[in-house]
Amino acid sequence: MINKDKKKLKVLITGGAGFIGSHVVRLFVTKYPDYEIVNLDALTYAGNLENLKDIENAPNYTFVKGDILDTELINNLFEKYEFDAVIHLAAESHVDRSISDPLAFVKTNVIGTMNLLNAAKKIWIDTPPSGEGGLEEKLFYHISTDEVYGTLGESGLFTEETPYAPNSPYSASKASSDHFVRAYGETYGLPYVVSNCSNNYGPNQFPEKLIPLFIHNILQKNPLPVYGDGNYTRDWLFVIDHAEAIDRIFHHSEKNKTYNVGGFNEWKNIDLVKLLCRVMDKKLGREEGSSEKLITYVKDRPGHDLRYAIDASRINNELGWKPSVTFEEGLEKTIDWYLENETWLKSVTSGAYQDYYKKQYKST
Ligand code: NAD
Ligand code: DAU
Repeated sequence: MINKDKKKLKVLITGGAGFIGSHVVRLFVTKYPDYEIVNLDALTYAGNLENLKDIENAPNYTFVKGDILDTELINNLFEKYEFDAVIHLAAESHVDRSISDPLAFVKTNVIGTMNLLNAAKKIWIDTPPSGEGGLEEKLFYHISTDEVYGTLGESGLFTEETPYAPNSPYSASKASSDHFVRAYGETYGLPYVVSNCSNNYGPNQFPEKLIPLFIHNILQKNPLPVYGDGNYTRDWLFVIDHAEAIDRIFHHSEKNKTYNVGGFNEWKNIDLVKLLCRVMDKKLGREEGSSEKLITYVKDRPGHDLRYAIDASRINNELGWKPSVTFEEGLEKTIDWYLENETWLKSVTSGAYQDYYKKQYKST
């Protein structure tokens, strides 16, 4: 595993301009000033350099605009920087988009991950560098999702031993990438770790996912499209707590392990939406109950997983991690962030965003 005593680790973070990636980049750049952090991001609709404005000039930080499908670029980056570790977050991440364009998910999530694995294998295994820090001090850290486990019924929790049973093109592509990471560990000896996390929420999340989309729609007094009967359950984790978990796993996990990360925080969608409406009404000084009137039940998502819930006891017991904020605190911080950053929200919801939502609403 990576050598924690080696002060000058060179770390490639992919997808660092996205939602979770931006919090991971910020944490690593500020907490480890001696590390060299390279953020590789294609800046798709979900990537935004505004998310990293506060650290863009940090001396230990470099941004590279590029696609993980570009093998030449990736191989060049590995040769140039001789990375000690990769934290791989770049992905197509929205289930609804995967239903309308599954191939895009195979390309980025499966082939893109393969490209990174091949580049790491080439430099760490096929032509290992001479000098300090052999293969045992390298790490390929793959960020994955609890959706690879499929769905739970009314009871039970996903553990690290739950068999994979992905139900959407998104989760199938993530499951496939997880398998390739594991296979490179078994076949070529690539040191890896995988973590599978539950639903994140917090600042900088693109307003296509439930919480930021509904915050945006409440602000605009637009309908709140609840899929099906709204009785679907998710386990919500504040994004900064996820970034802390990634830090803990990166520095302390043994090699070739997997960790489930979750919020110990299950909510039925409809209950969460009603809570969000109540809090927003108060904050916006609107009449109590006015935002709830925006709730509109729409056609269900095909293949909609009923319930996700994580057993996070492994990371809790072995690495001493647990969420630091309650859901009420995290949600409050999140809403405040969106209210204070209306320009961010406006800039990401112009142009192509409007076309995407026109299509979405047409299909419901
Ligand atoms: P996101 O969609 O907000 O960000 C993805 C980032 O990857 C963007 O900056 C985008 O520009 C970049 N990207 C996309 N395709 C790329 C490509 N081909 N080359 C280079 N960069 C590319 O996603 P997120 O919600 O921050 O998720 C990050 C990771 O965490 C993903 O792997 C996702 O599967 C996983 N995850 C997300 C959640 C969640 O609730 N959001 C939960 C568990 C796991
Ligand atoms: O569990 C981890 C996963 O969580 C991540 O891997 C994914 O990247 C992330 O997108 C998220 O997947 P979900 O499909 O659970 O998140 P989403 O925010 O899209 O939806 C949450 C729930 O809300 C789900 O049951 C569908 C429902 N929903 C969603 C939207 C966007 C609605 O009812 N209406 C909506 O408009």
